[in-house]
Amino acid sequence: MNTEIDWNVLRHKANEMVLRAYAPYSRYPVGAAGITSEGEILGGCNVENVSYGLGICAEVSLIAHLVSQGQRSVRAVSVADANGKVLMPCGRCRQVLLEHGGRELLVDHPAGPRRLADLLPDAFGPDDIAEVVP
Ligand code: THU
Repeated sequence: MNTEIDWNVLRHKANEMVLRAYAPYSRYPVGAAGITSEGEILGGCNVENVSYGLGICAEVSLIAHLVSQGQRSVRAVSVADANGKVLMPCGRCRQVLLEHGGRELLVDHPAGPRRLADLLPDAFGPDDIAEVVP
């Protein structure tokens, strides 16, 4: 589907998802929203754990939601904090997004959307292992 991304809709959904975050340890709730390649808007939020290292970011939660819904890829994502500020995905999340959005995935940015390829240059990706593993 090659329609324009409605960034206001994505930002609104990300801000709704902030309210569902479980972030009692950092007290930094995060919401994420994505539009799937089928045009559906999905959300995710950070889910922390008393064993701190087990916490998952909002973007990882979004991708788990995507896959568990039976879909595989997103075209655009937006991430927000509790003040409504557009957040940039952390490094680990950029790698997770690459798997399910590819290099052309559009990531919201205060100064205008960025291609994931520009946020995670020279990334290790599925094509690399495809060259070796039959
Ligand atoms: N966090 C996210 O959910 N996404 C990011 O891209 C950056 C950080 C979460 C992880 C943790 O629950 C909280 O923000 C503070 O780091």
